[in-house]
Amino acid sequence: MRIRLEILRFNPGEDREPAFQGFEVEAQPTDRVLDLLMHVKRFEDGTLGFRKSCAHGVCGSDAMRINGKDRLACKTLVRDVADADGATVRIEPLRHLPVKRDLIVDQEAFFAKYRAVLPFLINEEPVKEKERIQLPEDRDAFDDATNCILCASCYSACPVLDAKEGFLGPAALAQAFRFLEDSRDRGEAARVPLLDTPDGVWACENHFECTRACPRGIKVTKHINQTKRRIRDRSSKGG
Ligand code: SF4
Ligand code: FES
Repeated sequence: MRIRLEILRFNPGEDREPAFQGFEVEAQPTDRVLDLLMHVKRFEDGTLGFRKSCAHGVCGSDAMRINGKDRLACKTLVRDVADADGATVRIEPLRHLPVKRDLIVDQEAFFAKYRAVLPFLINEEPVKEKERIQLPEDRDAFDDATNCILCASCYSACPVLDAKEGFLGPAALAQAFRFLEDSRDRGEAARVPLLDTPDGVWACENHFECTRACPRGIKVTKHINQTKRRIRDRSSKGG
C-alpha cells in the first residue's frame, strides 16, 4: 500500500517555525512506523531527526505522536494507523518538551522530574542475610510499575501538563509509587514531602490519558491514586 507520511520538521537553528513535510512511501500493513521513518532517512532525506535504539519496545527512545496519539514508532504497525491505500499518517514530536530537531525532544526536564522523586531503593539498615528478602506477594504490589521504560509517552499525553509545567508528571509519580510500595524501601519520609505538593500527586486530575498512552500497559493513574491514598493515610496517622 501507498502511505503519505506527514512529518513535523523543525530545526531551531534554521527554521522560524515547525512545518509538515510530506513523503510518499510504499508500505506493508505489518511494517512498523519506525520502518517507514528509517526508509525516509535512508532513501529520501538523511537530515530527518528521530531517536531509536532497540526497535523492540524496550529502550523507550522512539516515542512520538502518531496520528495524534503518543506511541512508540517501533510498536506501531502501519495497519494500526492507516486503514486504506493512500492514507496519511501524521507524525509529530512528543508534547511538553522542547524540540531539539524534528522528532527529537530535549528530555532533560522529564528526567529531572524523574530524578526528583528519588527513584532508587533507600535503606540504610544493615543487610541481615546476603540480600534483602522479599515475599512474592510484596513484590507483586509494585510489579506493574517496574515495566516503565521512561519513554515519556505519558508525559506528552497528560493534559495537566498543558497548563502546569511544574507538574512532576505521570512517569515520575509512577516510579515514586514503585519505591514507596517496595517492602524493602525505607525512603517514605524523604519521598512523601516531594510528592505531597501542588505540583506532585495533587496536580493529577484523573484524566487517565497517561494510562491510555502507556505502551507498557502500566496502570499509571491507579498508581498515582494509590500514592494519594498512602499520603492521606499517613497524614491521618500523624506521619
Ligand atoms: S509510565 Fe508508560 S508511558 Fe510513562 S514513561 Fe513509563 S513506559 Fe512510558
Ligand atoms: S526503539 Fe526502543 S522502544 Fe522503540
